[in-house]
Amino acid sequence: MRKMLLTNIKHWLFLMSTICLIVIGYWVFGTEVKIVALKPLTNQRQPSVLGVDEWRKAISLDNFDYEEQLVVLYNRVPKTGSTSFVNIAYDLCKRNRFHVLHINITANSHVLSLPNQVSFARNVTKWHEMKPALYHGHVAYLDFSKFQISHNPIYINLVRKPLDRLVSYYYFLRYGDNYRPNLVRKKAGNKITFDECVKLKQPDCDPKNMWLQIPFFCGHAAECWEPGSQWALNEAKNNLVNKYFLVGVTEQMEDFVDLLEKSLPRMFHGFREYYQHSNKSHLRNTLNKRPPSEETVAAIMESKIWKMENELYEYALQQFEFNKRKLLQPDKKQIQRYMYEKIKPK
Ligand SMILES: *[C@@H]1O[C@H](CO)[C@@H](O)[C@H](O)[C@H]1NC(C)=O
Ligand SMILES: *[C@@H]1O[C@H](CO)[C@@H](O)[C@H](O)[C@H]1NC(C)=O
Ligand SMILES: *[C@@H]1O[C@H](CO)[C@@H](O)[C@H](O)[C@H]1NC(C)=O
Repeated sequence: MRKMLLTNIKHWLFLMSTICLIVIGYWVFGTEVKIVALKPLTNQRQPSVLGVDEWRKAISLDNFDYEEQLVVLYNRVPKTGSTSFVNIAYDLCKRNRFHVLHINITANSHVLSLPNQVSFARNVTKWHEMKPALYHGHVAYLDFSKFQISHNPIYINLVRKPLDRLVSYYYFLRYGDNYRPNLVRKKAGNKITFDECVKLKQPDCDPKNMWLQIPFFCGHAAECWEPGSQWALNEAKNNLVNKYFLVGVTEQMEDFVDLLEKSLPRMFHGFREYYQHSNKSHLRNTLNKRPPSEETVAAIMESKIWKMENELYEYALQQFEFNKRKLLQPDKKQIQRYMYEKIKPK
C-alpha cells in the first residue's frame, strides 16, 4: 500500500518536472525565436542604407511635395483645340518652372502596348528632373494604379462637339491649317466637300470616324475601340468623373484655362491672362473649312455613333458647367471659400 503511494508520488513528481522543463524551455527558446523574428525588421529601421531623412520621406506621405511633384497628363483628343492650349504651356513653362513633354507613339497609335504601358507609367512617375511636368499626347486614358504606382498623375482633357470635330478633321486632312501651312497632309488634293462626302457615303465622313472621344476616355480595353459599344460609353463617363481632374470643352477654352489656373496655380499661373492677350493661342485654324449643310447635319445626327458621342459630350459639358458654377458662392458675387472651426481639444 505504502509502496504504491510512493511510486505514485514519484510518477507525479516526474510529470511535474517534465512540465516545468517544457514550460521553461518554451519560454527560453520562444523568446529566442521572437527575437530572431524581430531582428531583420530592427536592422531595416537603422538608417544604414537610407539616410534618416530619406526614411522619413519614404514612410510618410505627409512629406510628399504636391507642388513640386505635380504631374499633369493631358491625353488630348485630335482636333479639339488642344494645340492652342499646349502652346500656352510651351510659352509659359520656363517662366513657371515646369517641363512640357510630348508623348510620341510610333505610327500615331492611341493605344500603348503592354510593355510600353509599364515603362511609361514608371518613367513618368520616377523622372523627377522633369517635375513639375505636363505630359501631352494622343493616347487613350491609362490607369496608373494598375502598375504598383503610388502617385497617379492628374488627368485633364478637352472635348468638342463630335460633328464639329469630325468636320474639322476632314478638312484638316485635305488643307492642313495655318499652324504648319506647308506640310502636305494625307488627303491633300482631294477637293470633295464634307457635304458631298456624306452624300456619296465615302468612308472619310462615315460616322464611325466620330468614335474617338469615347475610346480616349474609356482607355486601353479592347471594347473601348468597338464603335457603338454601350459598355465603352459607360466606362468613358465613369472615367470622366472619377479619374479626370478636369475636362473642359473646346467651345469654352478660356473658362477651362481659368479653372485650371485657380486649382493648380503652381503650373498654370498666368495662363488665362496669356490666353486672352497673346495672339498665339488662337493661331491654329483648319483652312478652307466649310460648315456642313443642314441636310448633312440631319443625316449625321441620325447615326447611332453620333448620338453616343454626343451623349458623352453633353455629359462632359454638364460636369464642366457644374464645376464652373460651384466656383462661386450661390450669390454669384464671391468665390467660394472654406475654413476650419470648432477645433477640439484646444
Ligand atoms: C514622332 O516621331 C517620329 C519619328 O521620330 C517623327 O517622324 C514624327 O514627326 C514625330 N511626330 C510628331 C508629331 O512630332
Ligand atoms: C524616362 O525616359 C527617358 C527617355 O527614354 C529617359 O531619358 C529617362 O532617363 C527616363 N527616366 C527615368 C527616371 O527612367
Ligand atoms: C503676334 O505676336 C507676335 C509676337 O508676340 C508679334 O510679333 C505679332 O506682331 C503679333 N501679331 C498680331 C497680329 O498681333
